[in-house]
Amino acid sequence: MTCLYRRKVHHLPKETKDYEKYFQPPSLTDAKKRGKEDIQVHYDFDIPEEMRAFGHDKYYLIQTYGCQMNEHDTETIMGLLEQMGYKPTEDRRLADVILLNTCAVRENAEDKVFGELGHLKHLKAEKPSLVLGVCGCMSQEEAVVNRILKKHPFVDLIFGTHNIHRLPFLLKEAYFSKEIVIEVWSKEGDIVENLPKKREGIKAWVNIMYGCDKFCTYCIVPYTRGKERSRKPQDVLAEVRDLARQGYQEIMLLGQNVNAYGKDFEDSDYRFGDLMNDISKIDIPRVRFTTSHPRDFDDHLIEVLAKRGNLVEQIHLPVQSGSNEILKRMSRKYTREHYLELVAKIKEAIPDVSLTTDIIVGFPGETEEQFEETLALVKEVKYDSAYTFIYSPREGTPAADMTDDVPMEVKKNRLYRLNDVLGQFSKESNDKMKGQLLDVLVEGESKNNADVLAGRTRTNKLVHLTGPKDLIGKIVPVQITDAQTWYIKGEWVSAAVAK
Ligand code: SAH
Ligand code: SF4
Ligand code: F3S
Repeated sequence: MTCLYRRKVHHLPKETKDYEKYFQPPSLTDAKKRGKEDIQVHYDFDIPEEMRAFGHDKYYLIQTYGCQMNEHDTETIMGLLEQMGYKPTEDRRLADVILLNTCAVRENAEDKVFGELGHLKHLKAEKPSLVLGVCGCMSQEEAVVNRILKKHPFVDLIFGTHNIHRLPFLLKEAYFSKEIVIEVWSKEGDIVENLPKKREGIKAWVNIMYGCDKFCTYCIVPYTRGKERSRKPQDVLAEVRDLARQGYQEIMLLGQNVNAYGKDFEDSDYRFGDLMNDISKIDIPRVRFTTSHPRDFDDHLIEVLAKRGNLVEQIHLPVQSGSNEILKRMSRKYTREHYLELVAKIKEAIPDVSLTTDIIVGFPGETEEQFEETLALVKEVKYDSAYTFIYSPREGTPAADMTDDVPMEVKKNRLYRLNDVLGQFSKESNDKMKGQLLDVLVEGESKNNADVLAGRTRTNKLVHLTGPKDLIGKIVPVQITDAQTWYIKGEWVSAAVAK
């Protein structure tokens, strides 16, 4: 295979000021290029025997930022570290390895990480043997790597999103060298199967694809996660079957754009609808997916989802804006009309579907009228909830070159008005659930009150309920008694049959 990406381990003397002589940072320009080479799938990953005791008597701590994709990557990192003999700890002072698995999607996500590095500097000074690493999406950005080298040279290790499987080797390098170890691949068309994963609890994430080729103009993800590539159906199905055998109650299929699943298969027209259909036959109680892009949401998928069974009636369908002009400049490649048509089709097929979304306010040039079009769309669709964001320019993306001309005060005001409307709809839809008997997957104790249990409906609504602790991990019938804006309350009904 020709080498599509930069793949080097760089060792820099930590005190060097002249690091550019030694190191070429990851390139966002290179990351934008999409290779035509076949996607290589590797099944032969293994940690060499001599490295399996490397972490004996050592502890690790990982701080994860960002989306479920990153959280799931952390499970892989934990799996790798534990195969090397490391044990987890929550205590920073005990940790021999601290990794920050970072997110680059908005500036405030990055600020948090830089703030954290500031704190960790003191810890590193007290315990020089600590290996401090930065991985995840921020590592894929050249500006970030440069800033770490300049301002946080006490960091020992930087690796990216495409070479997580190299961690055991990189960690070993970081231990033995007095120099900073950096390995970031600019882009990657590979999939590494059979990596260990440390899952906890009753719900499991399953990657079905990696990367994104959509290049929405505001978004850094296609640069940090590489090209769109789907795992083979047989690999996904084998993993889901295995999770079913282990007794997991729910799986969440992950991809930046799950309904583009299979579009990269050259010799097959197996798509996301086919995958969902096959997964619906596996004995696992609940199956969700995130995130879907409105553009690739086809009729076959709607037909399959309408059969329900273990495919739950909840769809996250990011709209981003209700204005055609803004959608165009975001390069979302659908119109408001197309989106509303899709919503109508979904609601016709699944009348009680719960729809959630993502919305950005204050995109460059967004006028008050255009924002009001977003508000009007929200009122029309009546989302159950939404993640809402103030636009944040990301270096290297096309939108970063547009004039970011909406004043921050106006952006904040729009966000406030939008959240207010969303809160009203959430309360309204929660109110409708009062009196219903629903299946609730009990996940654990409520965060704020250990006497209350917390669970989720099929539509992913948060439920606070009363009942014995041995309900945790089970799907049980719950009578809904009260509704708040962001959660509902209920009582466990023993011996009842819920729907
Ligand atoms: N693949 C998913 C989104 C991943 S990023 C999708 O296409 O739906 C999650 C959300 O972050 C996006 O939906 C978008 O609403 C928001 N986001 C992405 N880039 C952003 C930026 N530069 N500023 C503000 N919000 C952003
Ligand atoms: Fe970003 Fe758009 Fe890809 Fe989602 S579809 S990850 S918003 S580029
Ligand atoms: Fe953030 Fe990377 Fe996810 S940028 S949102 S962690 S894909």
